[in-house]
Amino acid sequence: MSLNHLTSWAADSERDWAEQIDGLIRQHRLEKAPPEGPLSDICKIPQIPRQAMALNPYLERLQQDGLAGAARMHHGRCLGHMTSPLPGFMPQLARLVASLNQNLMKTESSGRLTTLEKRTLLMLHRAVFDLKECDYAAMEADSQSTPGLVTSGGTVANVSAMWCARKRSLDGPDGWWREMQCQGYRGAVVIGSQLMHYSFEKAMDLLGLGANSLLKVDVDQNGAMRLDLLDEVLSACHARRRKVLAIVGIAGSTDFGSIDPLEELAKRARMENAHFHVDAAWGGPLLFSDKHADLLCGIEAADTVTLDAHKQLLTPVGCGVLLYRECHLSRTLMTTAPYAVRPGSADAGRFTLEGSRPANVIYLHAVLHLIGRRGFAHLIEHSFERARALARRISARRELELLLEPVSNLVVFRYLPEHCRSGTSSACETAINELNTRLHKEMRRSGCAFLSRTERAVPGRHGPLTVMLRAVMYNPLCELDDVEPLLQEVITTGKKVEALGLAKPHVMERIDG
Ligand SMILES: Cc1ncc(COP(=O)(O)O)c(C=O)c1O
Repeated sequence: MSLNHLTSWAADSERDWAEQIDGLIRQHRLEKAPPEGPLSDICKIPQIPRQAMALNPYLERLQQDGLAGAARMHHGRCLGHMTSPLPGFMPQLARLVASLNQNLMKTESSGRLTTLEKRTLLMLHRAVFDLKECDYAAMEADSQSTPGLVTSGGTVANVSAMWCARKRSLDGPDGWWREMQCQGYRGAVVIGSQLMHYSFEKAMDLLGLGANSLLKVDVDQNGAMRLDLLDEVLSACHARRRKVLAIVGIAGSTDFGSIDPLEELAKRARMENAHFHVDAAWGGPLLFSDKHADLLCGIEAADTVTLDAHKQLLTPVGCGVLLYRECHLSRTLMTTAPYAVRPGSADAGRFTLEGSRPANVIYLHAVLHLIGRRGFAHLIEHSFERARALARRISARRELELLLEPVSNLVVFRYLPEHCRSGTSSACETAINELNTRLHKEMRRSGCAFLSRTERAVPGRHGPLTVMLRAVMYNPLCELDDVEPLLQEVITTGKKVEALGLAKPHVMERIDG
């Protein structure tokens, strides 16, 4: 008996699905605030259905159990996170990627796409490192190394970079730990700023070095790593015989979009003989703008650079990149297997932490061609303008406080209750934090706009952690006209929460203990 009765593989049924899915997408876009009803209660603890479901009941189940309440990415005031609405061609490309279902781990399951991946990485490599033509010819011809990796995101790119830093740091016949001991080291560290993404904590844990070996240097009033403090940390590492595996520079911090002094970090890394990694998951595409590329000066001296295509390069989620300035470094992670990624093959899976990987490079290849350098420059420059417009209007409103002049296109601010507008005490700070947390939850529940919330020390200010509202001003559907209604919504919600009594002095006292 044919197994085809189990489900359809026919193109006709794809068309049925396409129509239904179009309907779901339309519904999702039209709904102002999708109702989040109860989960389907057919069975309390879900089980795999015995009988296959039909298309329509299944889609209803999906809508009820998963899509209701999904983030409305296509809304111009959806500014909470670093992912954006996607260009119109993307859903169709996603169909292509899923339909072909290629596996980029090995050439026998991806054909020429492995070459396309390498050439796409070379395009990005040029944009970041701009080496000589002959270097690129050599990289393209060298099948035993790669100029970079396409990963599932910035986290895997950062983890891969730290893995590479560890492996290249000390080499001896008896392994890395033995070599560390032989050379008299009593530990190994990675140094970055307080604003490093939490993926570095994961990397340290995975490398078995422990989160305490991630040394976080304080930042200045612009959110950039303080070099005087970095020098102190380096001296302490020498005194305590700690091997500095890597110095990490951030090009666009998650919370503030701030940028470290990359040129100076590169010099320090060279002097230490340490790996220099730049996490440009957010800020990398600034390089496409002649106006703002200078902010990343020094990135070209990095050994490795993380980029996240699913942030400012507008690909679907699941597309990050790690670039190696010198592609021979990629060999430090080379791992082979007899069933597929064999030594001497051209398989990309020899270099990646991940095994099977989708052909997500198609998205990246597409945006680089269909939007192009100028297109991205335009998007970046507009996002900077919107960020500055938002910052100016926040500063003009007495109900709001701008917490940092935006360095790039992220803006952090908070709502100030009436009695804290002429100055704040520590009791006030606690209450303002609580109020902004509530305000954020309320906006998320019932609002039209979407901002995110973070909690950090404000760069350059002493004092407790501050709850901040964060606007990522990149969403290409956000217009300058969206700025005022967005702020009005924050203020109205702030007043509403305030009216509930949360931030009144007696409540503050209670909160303050
Ligand atoms: C600076 C930075 N690095 C790395 C990452 C991790 O990226 P991903 O979420 O794609 O793993 C992020 C995510 O926001 C980030 O902001």
